[in-house]
Amino acid sequence: MTKLTAEELDFDNLDFSYKDLPYRYQAEYHNGAWEPGKLITDSNITLSEAAVVLHYGQEVFEGLKAYRRKDGGINLFRPDRNAKRMRESAERLLMAGYPVPDFIEAAKAVVKANQDFVPPYESGGSLYLRPMLIATTPMVGVKPGKDFIFRIYATPVGAYYPGGMKPTAFVTSEFDRAAHGGTGQAKVGGNYAASLLPGEEAHRAGFSDVVYLDPRQHQYIEELGSANFFGITKDGQFKTPKSPSILPSITKFSLIDLAKEMGMNPVETPISIDELDEFAEAGAMGTAAVISPVGSITHQAKKHVFYSETEVGPKTKALYDRLIGIQYGDQTGPTGWVVDV
Ligand code: PLP
Ligand code: COI
Repeated sequence: MTKLTAEELDFDNLDFSYKDLPYRYQAEYHNGAWEPGKLITDSNITLSEAAVVLHYGQEVFEGLKAYRRKDGGINLFRPDRNAKRMRESAERLLMAGYPVPDFIEAAKAVVKANQDFVPPYESGGSLYLRPMLIATTPMVGVKPGKDFIFRIYATPVGAYYPGGMKPTAFVTSEFDRAAHGGTGQAKVGGNYAASLLPGEEAHRAGFSDVVYLDPRQHQYIEELGSANFFGITKDGQFKTPKSPSILPSITKFSLIDLAKEMGMNPVETPISIDELDEFAEAGAMGTAAVISPVGSITHQAKKHVFYSETEVGPKTKALYDRLIGIQYGDQTGPTGWVVDV
């Protein structure tokens, strides 16, 4: 793949796709220890055909973004939380966790090295960082690997769901994404493999993404294929599902804090698919999704419309403005949320 130059990019019309930028960061783990990592230029990884990651899916990943400020500087949003969650995911898959301070330094190094690719302030874009951890030991039996590669690559992105802040349509599925007691709380590739078929079916039927229901009863909302879910009740309360099989979203925890600040009395609680009438507004929240309004959810062939299928609701907009205000450095947020690169 030939590397892009920043001049070749249309920063005002970015989609959510991979672009092969000049630099990525890599560190390797052998004989029980992490070797010093460094910036490299090769976007390929050479592996044994028997590498555990290729057969038994021993892989975890993260997603965080770098934002261009008005003063030209660059912010990372809560990289410590991604670093910690990656260690928790690694623990679930018996992998060596990458140290939190080294993760943050690596993220900064990748952003600095590719800084020409951080979209301009007000373009609406950001530089998405994809930290990943894979087991490289050749093994044929089902056992955890002992050798790992930690890598962070970067790619400039725009909106994840089509239209960004325009409401889109979602649909429930008969499929499950993750089991209680499974790996839903960890950010592992296998969860996303399980979501490909239901996701594709939803896309083919014209929906943005799937609303997964709980794997036991198919009664309670879990999360979306690529984001957590929230609803805002008619009396203005922010509600988001509580479940043992969903990703502990950093955007969700941030929005819970911001909703508190904005008097929206946030709560994490089981949300029944039969209670959708309770919500005046609904949205998807995540690093890639940011806040994307959910215009409707179709469940068992019945469409439930929230605020509007074409306009974003006022509370969703207020939360979005506050969140991106902090991320792009226009507003002051809670201490430590924003890290200068
Ligand atoms: N849920 C799923 C399945 C996701 O893929 C993501 C994206 O990372 C999220 C939730 C949101 O998590 P975060 O806000 O930490 O990006
Ligand atoms: C993210 O928001 O970072 C995600 O991981 C969602 C998706 C692109 C997998």
